[in-house]
Amino acid sequence: MSVRDARRGTTGPAVAIRDLRFSYVPGHEVIDLPALEFARGETVFLHGPSGSGKTTLLGLIAGVLTPQVGQLAILGTDLTTLSRGARDRFRAAHLGYVFQMFNLIPYLTVRENITLPCRLSADRRARVTDPDAAARVLADRLEIAPLLEARVTALSVGQQQRVAVARALIGAPALIVCDEPTSALDADRRDRFLELLFANVAEAESTLLFVSHDLSLAGRFDRTLALRELNRAAATGGV
Ligand SMILES: Nc1ncnc2c1ncn2[C@@H]1O[C@H](COP(=O)(O)OP(=O)(O)OP(=O)(O)O)[C@@H](O)[C@H]1O
Ligand SMILES: [Mg+2]
Repeated sequence: MSVRDARRGTTGPAVAIRDLRFSYVPGHEVIDLPALEFARGETVFLHGPSGSGKTTLLGLIAGVLTPQVGQLAILGTDLTTLSRGARDRFRAAHLGYVFQMFNLIPYLTVRENITLPCRLSADRRARVTDPDAAARVLADRLEIAPLLEARVTALSVGQQQRVAVARALIGAPALIVCDEPTSALDADRRDRFLELLFANVAEAESTLLFVSHDLSLAGRFDRTLALRELNRAAATGGV
């Protein structure tokens, strides 16, 4: 099955947001976004000061957080109408998420962490011939192949970050969301990592949303967004 075939059933832009509002604590809005849209296949660099709501916005786009108000359509699916379980299934099938804190499963090996999306989602499983072989290819490119059978708790921060990236890329999800994925990598590794990320994104015809403080990376992306300029909550001094 081609990647495009596997994605049939999703329509519309990668991300379409209208009048989206979110607060962790009532009365303290963190996100107030009038409009934001990403086309399919776009690579987007998102930056903003610490605390400006970058991770929160990614959590909303991934369906981990639920907005109080607004429209949030991901790959043509309105996340606000889905149950929690349906959102979890949608995320597993269509989103590769590199969390800022990695969120690796501590009692699983590197290989088991990387192949996890293929166990959680039939869509992701259908896009690889053999999950273990796909994990080996990604691990090899990310220079963590010798660690495949190690527990993730035995890894350095930079190694854990690369496991998180391999887990996001496996099974060619339509939308890849990365929260500071290069912060623990040295300059050489960072450049090789970005090459791999862009090659995978192009091959899978995925959309990439990439959050980083490192503005020197912005030129590699189709579009650069400053969250502070888009987010009315940040502009008005909201929490
Ligand atoms: N779980 C939470 N409960 C309550 N408030 C939170 C929670 N997570 C984040 N916040 C608040 O929401 C705001 C935005 O946080 P967020 O983590 O989205 O920022 P960020 O732009 O990703 O910052 P950084 O660059 O430091 O990662 C901050 O003021 C933070 O204190
Ligand atoms: Mg953050």
